[in-house]
Amino acid sequence: MAAGELAELRDVAVEAARVAGDILVARYESATGPVGVRSKSSATDLVSEADLAAERAIREVLTRRRPGDGILGEEGDDVPGTTGLRWVVDPLDGTTNYLFGLPQWCVSVACEHRVGVVWDPLRQELFETTGGTALLNGRALEPSGREDLATALVATGFGYDAGVRARQAEVIARVLPRVRDIRRMGSAALDLAWTAAGRYDAYYERGIAVWDVAAGSMLCAAAGLAVRELPARDALAAGILVAGPAIAEELLDLVG
Ligand code: IPD
Repeated sequence: MAAGELAELRDVAVEAARVAGDILVARYESATGPVGVRSKSSATDLVSEADLAAERAIREVLTRRRPGDGILGEEGDDVPGTTGLRWVVDPLDGTTNYLFGLPQWCVSVACEHRVGVVWDPLRQELFETTGGTALLNGRALEPSGREDLATALVATGFGYDAGVRARQAEVIARVLPRVRDIRRMGSAALDLAWTAAGRYDAYYERGIAVWDVAAGSMLCAAAGLAVRELPARDALAAGILVAGPAIAEELLDLVG
């Protein structure tokens, strides 16, 4: 793909993510105040309304600027395209955090195999990858380079099904004694972006949706991390694992 078209896709992704972020921030702050403490009782409705409004805004940008491209989003219908390009969007990743007034959520916009953007509007952090570069607010992302799993900080997430959670707890029981610590922050797209930025040494999760990981996994690959698929097994769905090359296989053996 020509550099000009790639640059256009990147601009479209950033515009879509920022427009959605503005909608989400306005509603979040009107419900919680700028510091994230909830002050209204109708928070669940607010979240679904905010989520839907943000996805509508993203779709408006994509259909206006890229009319022939396909779109797959968490909250809307899959739109088949004619150009061979498909956008995969999560207008609000970290819904539970948003609902509880916790400032750990983001907008994820990817044009598959081309561009990935994860926008954290509360921190004003724009993670982006285009054509093999991985940037945070314009500066190259640097993953941790950790070589020893025992000192690694590992992020993860859990499914919603109780039976699946019980199995995931068994895996955590195996992992926890073998690493520095575990984090479950509640936004897969930010988990991936933060791993690409070296804030975590690794991240894995099963049962994750394509829109949760589309942009973040591209960021991790472009930053030089190993990106592996966790195959489905027993009652556990397939998933993703990202880590520095030195610890990826050992962690994969532990959680895979
Ligand atoms: C969720 C978050 C969470 C992950 C869940 C996802 P949502 O996405 O990314 O961290 O553990 O699997 O479903 O529902 O907030 O868009």
